[in-house]
Amino acid sequence: MNPYLSQFNLDGKRAVVTGGNRGLGLEFTKALLAAGADVAVISRHADAPEAAEAAKEFGRKIVVISRDLSDDHARYGLINQAAERIGGIDILVNNAGITHRAPAIDFPMEQWRKILEVHLTAAFDLSQQAARLMWDKGGRIINVASLSSFLAGWTIVGYTAAKSGILGLTRSLANEWAHRGITVNAIAPGYFRTDMTRPLQEDPKRNAEIIAHIPLGRWGEPIELTGAMLLLASDAGRYITGATIVVDGGYLVR
Ligand SMILES: NC(=O)c1ccc[n+]([C@@H]2O[C@H](COP(=O)([O-])OP(=O)(O)OC[C@H]3O[C@@H](n4cnc5c(N)ncnc54)[C@H](OP(=O)(O)O)[C@@H]3O)[C@@H](O)[C@H]2O)c1
Repeated sequence: MNPYLSQFNLDGKRAVVTGGNRGLGLEFTKALLAAGADVAVISRHADAPEAAEAAKEFGRKIVVISRDLSDDHARYGLINQAAERIGGIDILVNNAGITHRAPAIDFPMEQWRKILEVHLTAAFDLSQQAARLMWDKGGRIINVASLSSFLAGWTIVGYTAAKSGILGLTRSLANEWAHRGITVNAIAPGYFRTDMTRPLQEDPKRNAEIIAHIPLGRWGEPIELTGAMLLLASDAGRYITGATIVVDGGYLVR
């Protein structure tokens, strides 16, 4: 096989994707399946019909585990359980996320805690669980960051704090775990059409402002994130660690 293209092949690899049932996580799941990996999807739902359909199409195995990642008891032993069901773990994608909009002055503490728990604490907890299984053979951890990892945003103080923390988490784990062959990187998506961004899509003023700010002049399509995912998940990205790949149509440079 062509040595340049075969670097992206994930045949025989096992991946865990949080929030892999819909939105960007579903697209990550489909790309990993298409590249040859078996996937365990974790979300609050017990089924992931579109991911299951993709697994059938690509002839791969998929398992779906229902857990609320905001609950630390529910996370206990979770990666071990997922790994047992798909035969191990080579790749972890910390993608699950939520948001809440409110002015910082009134931002409910309960929402703050939940957002930090789902985005940041769960990402650390699951990364630690995964790294213990990857310790003697290496692996790939990919965190999903955001433009809010770099910019203040507006009325999303919890999300901005969590996504900023994801960059620090990514750098720290990359630094400490590189000697075990575990790479830890992040992908920072710009504006992509999912349930999470629906309020922005449906607000004509905000939608127009967003598009005007994007040098490529449009929202991203979820498939446009999968190149970065496959690079970081595969052998092609083996010398990349501690990095954040921004996929934003140029938003940050304007
Ligand atoms: N869309 C964008 O433009 C954009 C931009 C930058 C960053 N991101 C980030 O990309 C990631 C995916 O976002 P998205 O736009 O695809 O959002 P989405 O469509 O709202 O999907 C969120 C995913 O997270 C899962 N999830 C949420 N809370 C959970 C919990 N407590 N326990 C387990 N799973 C949970 C959901 O599954 P269930 O509901 O089934 O539990 C769902 O699969 C997030 O980290 C988000 O911050 C998105």
